Amino acid sequence: MRQVTVVLANPRGFRANGRKLRNFMSSMPSTPVIEIRDLHKAYGTLQVLKGVSLNAQKGDVVSLIGSSGSGKSTLLRCCNLLEDSQQGEILFNGEAVRWKGQGGARQPADRAQVTRIRTNLSMVFQSFNLWSHMTVLQNVMEAPISVLRQDRAEVEARARALLAKVGIGDKADVYPAQMSGGQQQRAAIARALCMEPEALLFDEPTSALDPELEQEVIRVIKALASEGRTMLIVTHDMRLAADVSNHVIFLHDGRIEEQGPPASLFKTPQSARLRQFLSHSMVD
Ligand SMILES: Nc1ncnc2c1ncn2[C@@H]1O[C@H](COP(=O)(O)OP(=O)(O)O)[C@@H](O)[C@H]1O
Ligand SMILES: [Mg+2]
Repeated sequence: MRQVTVVLANPRGFRANGRKLRNFMSSMPSTPVIEIRDLHKAYGTLQVLKGVSLNAQKGDVVSLIGSSGSGKSTLLRCCNLLEDSQQGEILFNGEAVRWKGQGGARQPADRAQVTRIRTNLSMVFQSFNLWSHMTVLQNVMEAPISVLRQDRAEVEARARALLAKVGIGDKADVYPAQMSGGQQQRAAIARALCMEPEALLFDEPTSALDPELEQEVIRVIKALASEGRTMLIVTHDMRLAADVSNHVIFLHDGRIEEQGPPASLFKTPQSARLRQFLSHSMVD
């Protein structure tokens, strides 16, 4: 048994209301699930992250917004160590990533630590990234069996339950190409959940979808938020960010230009850049 999910750990009365739950949990002193301190990242001579810090407590939903190229995906990928960074710290449940080398030569020092962190921060990508040669069920079961070496029967039961939970319980035996984009993305979310991660990282999960399919995925993300799951969500959808997050970060040119609770950030943005960004992004 690896870990109890956040839902089971929550006090019962708070379960129905995600925001109340998050406020309650944020008020308790605890170690953040994800903490980033002053992170710097360059691709060659291109400085992409110029000192970014963030904090996600258990149950927090943090949205990252900003123009294309501002560094949102890079930040998410640095978080689960898919990208190396040159300076700054990344902590998972209070445990700092150990590095070897410095600057451009810096790399994680401990492969086992990297695997532990990566398997606990499941990522959902814009383009789903399902394996096309595997059925939906096989996609969902693959990592828990091959990476975590869990029992096949237990994984299958969990995978089927998760597919039902995201509303595609009848699609277990089809291949990704036989499904709509919205169904594929929900399968990708079930796949991420099947790892029983501490947190979910979403990179523009609805950007590749038509508006009506977008809604099916948004419903699933909202349900996860109301369960009190810890999530970082990169999104262009300001309504989604406003609805599900308790904290929103506006990145501009590799720096945090402004951040805060969605109510104040969207209603009374302080920075001219954020005001300008929102004037192009708001749907209504
Ligand atoms: N693998 C890469 N190699 C070189 N440059 C990259 C790479 N990935 C992203 N970049 C650059 O880093 C900057 C930030 O990209 P990204 O994090 O994808 O931004 P966002 O997700 O906010 O649109 C952009 O200028 C982009 O061109
Ligand atoms: Mg991106």
